[in-house]
Amino acid sequence: MRTAPAYAKINLSLEVLGRRLDGYHELVSVMQTVSLSDEITVQPNVAVQLSCSDPALEHRDNLVVRAAESLRAEWSVEDGCSVVLTKRIPAAAGLGGGSSDAATTLVLLNELWNLGASLSDLAVLAAQLGSDVPYFLVGGTAFIEGRGERVTPLPDGADQYFVLANPRVPLSTADVFRNVRSEEHGTGAATLEVRDQVLRSRIAPFGVNGLQDSAFRICPPAQRCFESLQARAPGSVILSGSGPTSVARVDGPDEATQLTRAMQADGYWATAAKSIGRGEMIV
Ligand code: C5P
Repeated sequence: MRTAPAYAKINLSLEVLGRRLDGYHELVSVMQTVSLSDEITVQPNVAVQLSCSDPALEHRDNLVVRAAESLRAEWSVEDGCSVVLTKRIPAAAGLGGGSSDAATTLVLLNELWNLGASLSDLAVLAAQLGSDVPYFLVGGTAFIEGRGERVTPLPDGADQYFVLANPRVPLSTADVFRNVRSEEHGTGAATLEVRDQVLRSRIAPFGVNGLQDSAFRICPPAQRCFESLQARAPGSVILSGSGPTSVARVDGPDEATQLTRAMQADGYWATAAKSIGRGEMIV
């Protein structure tokens, strides 16, 4: 039996550069792993079987099952596995929960089945499962290019504290990308500046999020949540990925707890979170 946390991510900056011929969008981003996590346990079993704390996610289309089946097919594994998934990361929230679960499943099953697959072997399967999945094999702070699958690790910095909040409604990533207008495309300069700041000072400021206007058009409650967080947080606020979760940067754990409680009192889903460096990741 093997167990590991599957951490959420936030986007410190994200720019859509343009639409590609394959239907995806070319983007640049700086991603950061945070302490909010799901938990995954794998055990030997005859077939691939998932049990999940959220019954709505307990189906064959779950990325965890697809990750297990793709690894099994690629490496001609005859054994199965039972996977127990405890969800804490809200689904379809811009926090990469499903992608992180998939990446962690690949790593755990590589060990359980003794496959000896390298990180680059796993990255090929990861990219087939979803644009964000390869990032979660690396984690920490990273610079992201292409449709999301090209990942360059950046050095770990000092701990940073955040509050994550959303209006408790899911938002489809595909819908948000589809509704981005060409005038909302970026040059990438703001995101490159965030990357360079990490390299210079190990502390990343928030850049921009080129999906924000699209997300707010589709999901007005996401904008209200963002504004509510902004009104309360002394520092900067940014939408994470395709939303609807917004992220406020705070000075430390006490401030994070206070702001989290204030957002919860207004009915929002909210949690305090700390940056997780690559060195702290168990997987
Ligand atoms: O890759 P993934 O399946 O996670 O992406 C979900 C959807 O988001 C895609 O089907 C696509 O519509 C959109 N997307 C995009 N450009 C990206 C990543 C995702 O248009 N770089």
